Amino acid sequence: MTTLSDRQAIGRDLVRREGGLKVTGTAPYADDAEVDSPVFCRLLLSPTARGRVTGIEVPEVPGLLTVLRAGSAEKLTSTGDDELAVLQDTSIAFRGQIIGAVIAETSEAAREAARLARVACTEEPQDTAFSPDRDDLYKPEKVNAGYPTDTAQGDLDAAMRTADVTVERTYTTATYHNNPMEPHSTTALWDGENLLLWESTQGVHPVRETVTEVFGLAPERVRVVSPHVGGGFGSKGAAHANVIVAAMAARALPGRPVRLALTRREMFSLVGYRTRTVMRTRLASSADGVLSGVGMDVVAPTSKVTEFAEQAGVPTRMMYAAPHRATSHRLAALDVPVPTWMRAPGECPGMFGNEVAMDELAEELGVDPIELRVRNEPAVDPASGKPYSSRGLVACLRSGAERFGWSGRRRHRVGDWLVGTGVASSVYPAFRMPHSTAHLRYADGRYVVSIGAADLGTGTWTALAQIAADGLGVPVELVEARIGDTDQPYASVAGGSSGISTWGSAIVEAARAFREKHGTEPPDGAEATGEIGSNPAQGQYAMYAFGAQFAEVHVHADTGEIRVPRLFGMFAAGRIVNPRTARSQLIGGMTMGLSMALHETSVLDPRFGHVVTQDFADYHVATCADAYRVEADWIDEHDRHVNPMGTKGIGEIGIVGTAAAIVNAAHHATGARIRDLPLTLDKLL
Ligand code: MOS
Repeated sequence: MTTLSDRQAIGRDLVRREGGLKVTGTAPYADDAEVDSPVFCRLLLSPTARGRVTGIEVPEVPGLLTVLRAGSAEKLTSTGDDELAVLQDTSIAFRGQIIGAVIAETSEAAREAARLARVACTEEPQDTAFSPDRDDLYKPEKVNAGYPTDTAQGDLDAAMRTADVTVERTYTTATYHNNPMEPHSTTALWDGENLLLWESTQGVHPVRETVTEVFGLAPERVRVVSPHVGGGFGSKGAAHANVIVAAMAARALPGRPVRLALTRREMFSLVGYRTRTVMRTRLASSADGVLSGVGMDVVAPTSKVTEFAEQAGVPTRMMYAAPHRATSHRLAALDVPVPTWMRAPGECPGMFGNEVAMDELAEELGVDPIELRVRNEPAVDPASGKPYSSRGLVACLRSGAERFGWSGRRRHRVGDWLVGTGVASSVYPAFRMPHSTAHLRYADGRYVVSIGAADLGTGTWTALAQIAADGLGVPVELVEARIGDTDQPYASVAGGSSGISTWGSAIVEAARAFREKHGTEPPDGAEATGEIGSNPAQGQYAMYAFGAQFAEVHVHADTGEIRVPRLFGMFAAGRIVNPRTARSQLIGGMTMGLSMALHETSVLDPRFGHVVTQDFADYHVATCADAYRVEADWIDEHDRHVNPMGTKGIGEIGIVGTAAAIVNAAHHATGARIRDLPLTLDKLL
């Protein structure tokens, strides 16, 4: 007998539908686009951080077709974002900027031409040394995602003066480069009046918007195709200069498809990164652990080309109750590459400062770190005064503690290893973007749902079919999703963990319209469209996913070697569409947090403005050998306010708080309090 729940697709552990294509190497990525006789583009990058290009000489390598040069390339429309004004003049704004491109018949010829190219440029004094003590720090108008730069409620200074116990500490995070497995790549073709782009992107429609603006084209003349994406982590959330160059190269060679795949090294100056943050954190508490004040003042670098302000102070605004609160952000604008989104921008570094500070306070008070957090649970969002649509932090802390084995926690020693445990909270906003449209069609016993959504390796192909199946009330096996093409209806970017919430809402709407029009026995060719605007409940509720991260850390007593044999994350992230792909997202985020805690740091040499860590030998990313037991689970949560499915995003919350849990566990093991990431063994000796 088939029961209703047997038929329900949401919540079912289904394998990725495109998984077979991926593991057999046959899923077509942007650089694999099947085109006739492609040509190949290679970039020329500035060898200095500030100056002017005075000449580019490229020898006549056999197969060389054309050269694009800074200052003499085709004129583009300014979007107001100077990162995209590529090759428009000869000025150099950072080291590793695109100053030219060569296009040749073969990949080898393009590489050879780029290698032999002689670039002449003038050098001007450059300014690339970041310090929070610079006297030219400025207050940006707003920080990332449009949040206010500064906030203040009550009088935090007075709260700090009168509190029984205070913590005032500075925490720093390093520079992190997004390193998706698939480098950014484009295959571009000018076909008569039309531009066709196969692109590795988190959003085909947003790329089309940028490209049409830059080239002054009508939207119907540009098509962007991106069925499979080998990771993005925010670096593929918006088109960078390389996409514009690929299109320019294609325009220079009409009818010839141009391939431009970035090298790993080029990714370290061209596609964004997470900036360093310096976070001064303040906590004011009563002797029994009730906070009267919380504060965070953030200083970070940005680029002079395009401003990006990592909003690390934002989670402090809403995380814990306290009447007196203040947050601020200041920037130093430098001659450095343009920063951008990286998995949980703001929350990820911000919750490192926040959650290590909470651990320091708990220690100072002699209160269990979980109890301290529970005592400061707010009844409503302290920042907005709105009720939470659902807030599962305490449930995650309590059930996570049980599962992890938190109680009876004690620092001990096993052989030569010092053993400790640590905890930290996670949070990420439950965003839903204001626009998306889905289309449904029925024919030959099958339903096809089309929406220009993105699958970054996260399971979108499968999850959207699950949502459509439940919306239609049909078995998921009968539903096929088609995504990743601007020929499909408009989809918002896969960013801010908003993808499934936004696209799924449009699909539910399309399914509702379909059933209303065609009933349960639709005729062949039956169709319906669903379009969503912004969520009306957004104004009434504060909407967030929460989590609790637990870490066990072992530190070698003699060498300081650090191991993390156990990470456990408990999340409250709304309804889970597909446990298999959700778990993979959460433990992926946690592993990236482990990587942030122990390994990742990009080094810029301020003498030359050069990012010197440009490969995986220098920029260390956690490997399988670093990740022992990384486990994630979630509590049942069905939030009716966030969207019709009751889901919250899960792409980013997994990285939030992980580094703090590990640093707190290392402190528990050793007594050493590390406030500057990464946590390397020299800091523990
Ligand atoms: Mo995510 S960093 O919002 O693409």
